[in-house]
Amino acid sequence: MSKTNKEEGIMPSILLSRARAYEDERIPAVLPSHLPHFHVTGGIGWINDPNGFSLYKGEYHLFYQYNPYSTHWDTMHWGHVKTRDFIRWERLPCALAPDKSYDKDGCFSGSAVELRDGRHLLMYTGVGKTDDGHEFQTQCLAFGDGVNYEKFDGNPVITAELLPPGGSEVHFRDPKISMTEGGFRVVAGNLTSDGSGAVLMFESDDAIHWRFVSELAASGNRFGRMWECPDFFRLDEKDVLIVSPQEVHTRDPEFIDGNTTLCLIGSLGPDDRLIPDTEHTIDCGLDFYAPQTVLTADGRRVMIAWMQYWNSVEIRPREELPFYGQMTLPRELNVLNGRLIQNPVKELDSYRGALTSYSDVSVSERMQLDGVGGRCTDLTVKVRGERYRSFTVRAAEGGDHVTEIRYDPGTNIISVDRTHSGWPENVLNTREFAVRDRGGEIKLRFIIDRYSIELFVNDGEQAASFVIFSPDPADGISFEADGEAVIDIEHYTLDI
Ligand code: FRU
Repeated sequence: MSKTNKEEGIMPSILLSRARAYEDERIPAVLPSHLPHFHVTGGIGWINDPNGFSLYKGEYHLFYQYNPYSTHWDTMHWGHVKTRDFIRWERLPCALAPDKSYDKDGCFSGSAVELRDGRHLLMYTGVGKTDDGHEFQTQCLAFGDGVNYEKFDGNPVITAELLPPGGSEVHFRDPKISMTEGGFRVVAGNLTSDGSGAVLMFESDDAIHWRFVSELAASGNRFGRMWECPDFFRLDEKDVLIVSPQEVHTRDPEFIDGNTTLCLIGSLGPDDRLIPDTEHTIDCGLDFYAPQTVLTADGRRVMIAWMQYWNSVEIRPREELPFYGQMTLPRELNVLNGRLIQNPVKELDSYRGALTSYSDVSVSERMQLDGVGGRCTDLTVKVRGERYRSFTVRAAEGGDHVTEIRYDPGTNIISVDRTHSGWPENVLNTREFAVRDRGGEIKLRFIIDRYSIELFVNDGEQAASFVIFSPDPADGISFEADGEAVIDIEHYTLDI
């Protein structure tokens, strides 16, 4: 339905025009007090996975799985925002609608790159159905200028024909495209004949004609079933694969059950298969899925993820909110000792306002500190001491609401409990994870926004993301130790 001509530019299809008109009507009416201060949402409607995270003409573009019309998942569009600093985002019109025969059941997840000729290339999964109702997923292209995108006439460009034997054409999705010296490389998720997931690699000279290269990595029924949303990149002299496995049931507390995330770090072998040295989860919280990365202009690898857990998506703790689903704060990545290190993007620092700091505060009974609190804050707590059995931070505290984060130096376990953070009791509200033993010392950095707490442990050795729905006035922060702990505090308000 879309066409290009020199005078008119790219004509949006009826479905895309409808989505954009709906946005124009609804988004201006959204109350800023209903939105997070600095985490991306759709503004209206439903979002899931980040898509097309890319640097285009000096700005970072982010698209996302999007249903503008309701706060529930339904036929996927691509929503669109852009930023210069990962903190302040500008909303752009809906970029893709499911308006072609090969994607009428959804424009599923994908990625983007800036082409050498200046066009922005989107690659996404089209979900279509044959006349007899048989679903299939293929990889498709759209070319654009940073606002308007035209689907490629020759779509789809990667179909089931390129799959290795036994690969599912129903579960073949989420292409992550990157530029190589000679052309392009794609990694995508696929369900294999053993009923579990794999990441497949393809290459192309022109992004249109593709060749199958290898099965980069596979679950072999160890990590769930279908593997979704892979991303593969080189970082700190290692090859890193991040992927989001479905239906994980493991007794290993490292991984959350259901839809989880996995990071494999190693090196690419001569047969283009990844030889992993280490494997671990990416985020130890309750709400984190489908992360995707971009390489910044100054060479940093920055990751963003959908801050939500598929198991709780049907619950609406705050019916009045016009949106459902948000992204994490973008995080800078490094590899150290076989682990993915994650820290908030450095751009956050320039939004730091008033500093309140304390040193050598002795904590035992529950206490608050003047100037420490809020729901748009950046708080670092360094804890030490030989005589404490546990140390607890309570955040978003007030009235009946509180979110508790406890560290136990004996077991080196952090436990988070958000039972009283506005969620009903029938969702998973607690999580525990192990941290490195540092002789009773721990450094906890909390990034708190209206609907989330993101915790970074020991300078990014671990990160844990939690969505909360406690009301704004629940903005207290307090500290307590069983025994006596000594803490240093750095607390900044964030002026965003
Ligand atoms: C992951 C996912 C992707 C798919 C998209 C559909 O959350 O299931 O595999 O492309 O969501 O919205």
